[in-house]
Amino acid sequence: MVDPVAESLLEYRKLFPSLEDCVHLISHSLGCVPAQAKEDLGVFFDLWQTKSITAWSDWLPEVDRAAERIAKIISADAGTVIMHQNVSGIMSVLASCLEYTPERNKVVYEALQFPTVSYVWQAEQRRGAQCVLVPSKDGITIDTDAMCAAIDEHTLVVPISHVVFSSAYIQDVKKIVARAKEVGAHVILDCYQSIGTVPLDVIDLGVSFACGGSVKYVCGGPGAAWLYVRKDLIEQFSPRVTGWFGNEAPFAFTMPDQSYADNVWRFMGGTPAIAALYQSRAGQKIIGDIGVRKIREKSLAMTQLCIDWVDELGMKLNSPRPAEQRGGSVVFDFVGAADVCRELNRRKYFCDHRPTAGIRIAPHFYTKPSEIELFFGELKKIRSGAGR
Ligand SMILES: Cc1ncc(COP(=O)(O)O)c(C=O)c1O
Repeated sequence: MVDPVAESLLEYRKLFPSLEDCVHLISHSLGCVPAQAKEDLGVFFDLWQTKSITAWSDWLPEVDRAAERIAKIISADAGTVIMHQNVSGIMSVLASCLEYTPERNKVVYEALQFPTVSYVWQAEQRRGAQCVLVPSKDGITIDTDAMCAAIDEHTLVVPISHVVFSSAYIQDVKKIVARAKEVGAHVILDCYQSIGTVPLDVIDLGVSFACGGSVKYVCGGPGAAWLYVRKDLIEQFSPRVTGWFGNEAPFAFTMPDQSYADNVWRFMGGTPAIAALYQSRAGQKIIGDIGVRKIREKSLAMTQLCIDWVDELGMKLNSPRPAEQRGGSVVFDFVGAADVCRELNRRKYFCDHRPTAGIRIAPHFYTKPSEIELFFGELKKIRSGAGR
């Protein structure tokens, strides 16, 4: 039976003309480009060309406009989101807000963390942090009780992923936040793998900070990452990783010390990457307009279809089966998967491969069920050595 929600979302395909030229199952890594992004980048360019330095009066407000578009998707209050270039930079800003003492120096996160986040916190050990990594028993899931047990009175911060990049496992954030609150620790939630495909309500989750980007399910391309700061925490922190756009009056050019803005801009650094914000407009608007609940409903049906194919072809599933644990992608492995992935991409069946995890694919709101069939059909052909 055709699901009416899934079917109605196919209306949006016309905004993504490049879908007609490929099978795009790579939205967990790079969302498809909306045609409007080219127009919006053109607007950025025209402003530069026609208005020169006075373009800043249009460009700078785009930071807050992008933040508002993100706030709508993550259910954040106005004035609690600021734009950055990437999650690595955001993590460094947040780490620079913290001071470690012998009594409170633990940084607890899952061993399946996205490496860039881990690199930032491991480097914090030079400043007195003690990182505790909670292992995964099966390489797919993370035991919430083990996470909670690792969080104790010495824990300062818990920087975790909402959805694990290599397995699409959804962490039980509420439980982890409850434990962190009990001991006075902050949770930083990296939502890169959830925003745009798993409904997000940062206030309801109760996290201190959340961050992510626009590259993946948001279809906004690189350079438009975002940071959410819980309202009551904004003025409590003064990042050492800072810059003049974090100042209360950047154009007053006061010297020599930083005097932080009294709003979320205090988490900013130097000149914002404006072109990326124009480029990200269309994707952010489309996701906000559709609403992630509908996207999730379709995603669950489509990922189940993918899992059925993985089982049918006798491959090893490396992502969770239960719907409530499943993010937007499906991960599976077999001998020679990396080579098959390369060939699939050469044939424009877009997917990726991660060491020890296998091939990752992600249907999105614009995916037709027939494309899943085409994808696995092609994979089967390549595996059997046919059709080269
Ligand atoms: C969970 C997660 N965090 C972070 C990133 C990327 O971080 P950055 O924006 O620093 O490139 C990715 C993927 O690119 C990711 O999957």
